[in-house]
Amino acid sequence: MGTRFLPATKAVPKELLPIIDTPALQLIIDEAVGAGFDHIVVVTSHSKPAIEAYFRPAPDVMAKLRSSGRGSVADRLQRTADSARISFAYQDDPHGLGHAVGCARAAVGDDPFAVLLPDELMGDSTLLAQMADVAGVSGGSVVGLKRVPTSEVSAYGVVDPIGEIDADGVVAVRTMVEKPSPDAAPSDLIIIGRYVLGAGAFDAIDRVQPGAGGEIQLTDALKLLAADGPFHGVVSEISRHDTGTPFGWLTAVVDLALDDREIGAQFRAWLHGRR
Ligand code: G1P
Repeated sequence: MGTRFLPATKAVPKELLPIIDTPALQLIIDEAVGAGFDHIVVVTSHSKPAIEAYFRPAPDVMAKLRSSGRGSVADRLQRTADSARISFAYQDDPHGLGHAVGCARAAVGDDPFAVLLPDELMGDSTLLAQMADVAGVSGGSVVGLKRVPTSEVSAYGVVDPIGEIDADGVVAVRTMVEKPSPDAAPSDLIIIGRYVLGAGAFDAIDRVQPGAGGEIQLTDALKLLAADGPFHGVVSEISRHDTGTPFGWLTAVVDLALDDREIGAQFRAWLHGRR
């Protein structure tokens, strides 16, 4: 519901808040496309019509850009629109992340699929691509992991690893716990909002009972998957921002602005000269 970004989110869904000039949601889609995914299912709600409006073709805007000598901007918009097929699934009441994923069942079908939480912005597609490779080899499910100080684990799903992390960052996972207290956490490896799941995931979600607040947790479905077959994590050092909070959103904007081809140098100089 984007309450952390009120009052902006009274009118603009938080997924469309821009990181410089691009909605956070688009950057997540670009990450998925970069990892080889070509069909994106956006789980949204009918109370956020702006999300579908964002994906609707805009022939008038394109024609205007081309007739006013800004064809390169039109080309960029067209490339983005052509890069993936977009479908929508609806979760009109917030019953939890597992429930949201379950709402995409008909649109996703029977193939393995990835889940990307748009609050988490990754630097590039490498983690997701590696996770898809690991899932392809194991035939099981894979989560993205990051090591954090123990004091931070209680905000996340935390895995119970089996054995050592290999040279590629891959580790087998026995099970996981959603938001444990630091002393009850099975490790300091948190799940960072990237999942590649086997087709059995939807059946697992159907078997999950609502937990606290009536929410269907994705982590509870993952536990069932891990008990049934191969389950791995990929530990990543990838740069990552939590754009779900104003502070995290700001760090993402600053980081991407510093690396931006057009405004990076100017922005760096401005930041440097600032007191
Ligand atoms: C969700 C998941 C949690 C995961 C986190 C990553 O929590 O339930 O397991 O670690 O995303 O951001 P939420 O942030 O929705 O509370």
